[in-house]
Amino acid sequence: MTDKNLQVLLRRRPQGAPVPEDFEVVETAIPTPGPGQVLVRAHFLSLDPYMRGRMSDAKSYAKPVALGAVMEGATVGEVVTSNDPSFKPGDVVMGGQGWQRFCVMDAARLRKVDTSVAPLSAYLGLLGMPGLTAWVGLEDIGTPKAGETVVVSAASGAVGQVVGQLAKARGCRVVGIAGGAAKCDFVVKELGFDACLDHRQPLDPQLDAACPDGIDVYWENVGGHVQEAVFPRFNDFGRMVMCGMIAQYNIAPGADAAGAPPGPNLGPVVRKRLRIQGFIVSDTGWGRYDAFLAEMTPLIAERRMRWREDVADGLAAAPRAFIGLLQGENFGKLVVRIG
Ligand SMILES: NC(=O)c1ccc[n+]([C@@H]2O[C@H](COP(=O)([O-])OP(=O)(O)OC[C@H]3O[C@@H](n4cnc5c(N)ncnc54)[C@H](OP(=O)(O)O)[C@@H]3O)[C@@H](O)[C@H]2O)c1
Repeated sequence: MTDKNLQVLLRRRPQGAPVPEDFEVVETAIPTPGPGQVLVRAHFLSLDPYMRGRMSDAKSYAKPVALGAVMEGATVGEVVTSNDPSFKPGDVVMGGQGWQRFCVMDAARLRKVDTSVAPLSAYLGLLGMPGLTAWVGLEDIGTPKAGETVVVSAASGAVGQVVGQLAKARGCRVVGIAGGAAKCDFVVKELGFDACLDHRQPLDPQLDAACPDGIDVYWENVGGHVQEAVFPRFNDFGRMVMCGMIAQYNIAPGADAAGAPPGPNLGPVVRKRLRIQGFIVSDTGWGRYDAFLAEMTPLIAERRMRWREDVADGLAAAPRAFIGLLQGENFGKLVVRIG
């Protein structure tokens, strides 16, 4: 066994887009579990857009990562030693051990995973927080009905892939929006969306052609010019699932308007009786994980739920990969193979 731990720390708070110097990779001793605790070796780390928020000390729904602390993040891995009867060495688990190879965790914060349903790394995407986000947002806010038109931004990404395929399974017409021809091809040919529009090309004519009956549900992952183009095309009683607005994450609060992306005119919200609602998956999601798994498992077995991962190699590659995620460089759910 490697006798050192490897960790990625937050060295300083980014101004605008993060840069590699905001992180520090260090070697430390492997920690020892206390009573009721488990030592876990991570095999994969999830990189997710919310981590940009944790790097900032602006007021938010979750506490920031402290300077000098290990970056926060979900992992999947293997139990090395256990001081809790519910886990034994070799058990395969998911948890939130952060950007590090080894971590001591309270047993109550770990969940065993079944790799016969999907490979281990899928528990960071399809069957992890992003997939659960897709399911919760559709169940609670999007409520898509057969025959409705559902538009999904960042459609080839971790959340977008699952949103679109769940909406297809519920009988909707599903239109993705993604950056570039390769991502759009994947979304239609591999994931089975009805169409996918390239947001690097003018969106208005593409939306007119792909959504002749207007839009009933818009799943918002990006904001900016994509939101601006989608918004006027809502049907009466449309629902906008405010999942995230990644186009704004690198813009400092209080930055001048010239640096801000465009936003929609919200006037039609009243006239069209739209429902716009934000949510955070951790509010209710993990308590409903079994119901989520019950819907996803047969879809995976029937190959009606496909997914794509973008794998960075080695923990030291995590900062660069994360910086790329905030610029659309990932193609599929971004994970790090820790090695
Ligand atoms: N509310 C919740 O509980 C919750 C939970 C999980 C995730 N989220 C949010 O869901 C969204 C998607 O997350 P994800 O994990 O699935 O990420 P992802 O889609 O796998 O990756 C991010 C994608 O966003 C697009 N993007 C990046 N920078 C952009 C920019 N400046 N302007 C426009 N598009 C940009 C890129 O796709 P293209 O190249 O296709 O543009 C990029 O590949 C994020 O906003 C995230 O914060 C919310």
